[in-house]
Amino acid sequence: MSSLLHSSNSSTVIVSPARGFRGSVTLPGDKSISHRYAMLAGFAAGTSRLTNFSTGADPHSSLGCMRAMGARIETVGKTIEVTGTGGRLHHPNRDLDCGNSGSTMRMLAGLVAAQKGSFRFVGDESLTVRPMERIRKPLEQMGAKIELTDGHAPMVVHGGELTGIDFETPIASAQVKTAVLFAGLQARGVTSIAERVRTRDHSEHALRAFGATLERQNGRLSIAGGQKLTAIDATVPGDMSSAAFFLCAALLFEDSNLVLDALGMNPTRAAMLDVISAMGGTIKVLDVQETHGEMAGTIQVNRGRALLGIDIAGEQAAQLIDELPVIAAIAPYTQGGVRIRDARELRVKESDRIALVVKNLRAMGAEVAELEDGMDIPGGQRLRGGVIDSGLDHRIAMAFSIAALRAEGETEIRGAEAASISFPEFFVWLNELALR
Ligand code: S3P
Repeated sequence: MSSLLHSSNSSTVIVSPARGFRGSVTLPGDKSISHRYAMLAGFAAGTSRLTNFSTGADPHSSLGCMRAMGARIETVGKTIEVTGTGGRLHHPNRDLDCGNSGSTMRMLAGLVAAQKGSFRFVGDESLTVRPMERIRKPLEQMGAKIELTDGHAPMVVHGGELTGIDFETPIASAQVKTAVLFAGLQARGVTSIAERVRTRDHSEHALRAFGATLERQNGRLSIAGGQKLTAIDATVPGDMSSAAFFLCAALLFEDSNLVLDALGMNPTRAAMLDVISAMGGTIKVLDVQETHGEMAGTIQVNRGRALLGIDIAGEQAAQLIDELPVIAAIAPYTQGGVRIRDARELRVKESDRIALVVKNLRAMGAEVAELEDGMDIPGGQRLRGGVIDSGLDHRIAMAFSIAALRAEGETEIRGAEAASISFPEFFVWLNELALR
């Protein structure tokens, strides 16, 4: 047994330094795709069979809400079978509990906005302070009524007949786009959406897979209302945002070798692979296939001679929003440092991820400058093991477990159990892949 992890209690994991990072993993299904498949399978007519569904708690919150609204959900071996409501969600006899999941709350708001009745959404402490105004505006424009508590959850959606709108998203958010698409699917007339930054397009692929027609013209996406969905069989590709932790770990060691099988490589999620190359990694794509519009394949990653720094801003910052914490966490070990701009959205994720990354880098002895919309982290620094506060944010817990692999001494990850929100197997795999 490796001495990597010693659980001193349920929420603290000790990560000791490693001397390499090698091995092969098939990652659990993508969190974003799993959410969409759970919701659309629960809405469609017939039984969908979803294989390699995310093991994270968040997509299971989506399944729980769909069950509360009439979908039948059964686990058969490695497959989740979802029998949908044929477009008519039942009125839940309790609050819809979204747990820690912003995706569940925002995207489901769009789905229920066109259904008769009132739906009350609640979440945990972190979700209860996250902004919901961004979905209230377009959904109210379409005809729903949404009650928020100071702009946040608890949220009540009073649904009813909707009319299509032409919407320009002011914030780069795939969740907002999805809420509007899910409402537009059921509205009178056509709904169109223009995005300033192209965000992840899993909803577009999933809607088409379940039988809907969508068009994209001159950067505008349109969906006609009144479309019916039918069940699908699908295998969810591995999660690129979970892969990001191990990809960054592979960059930390000169003789690393990491093979990731069946990894989701949707181009709107693949910016991380460009970052890995820019930071000195070598990526070989060994195989790629497309199913239901989603690309998945096997990649092999090695590190070249040096770990290089990078500047991330603009569209790239939006497309890497979930991966920025781990890129920042390994930044001190780079040759040129890392500068992140245009990432203000990080402040309204499961935690204020700018503040928490800065605090935890400093806890490991790093020099870092905090900016309103990002941070500057000089390269060429040595870190020492420290006490990390995850803030119960899954990506912070995992990001600093990776930084710990090259630190001097052991690092204590407090609130490590948060990893289970998206990647419950994280520490088991980390233990297997890190060489001591
Ligand atoms: C997601 C979109 C992003 C991302 C989140 C998942 C999705 O959020 O941070 O983890 O599945 O659509 P925003 O839409 O708020 O940017």
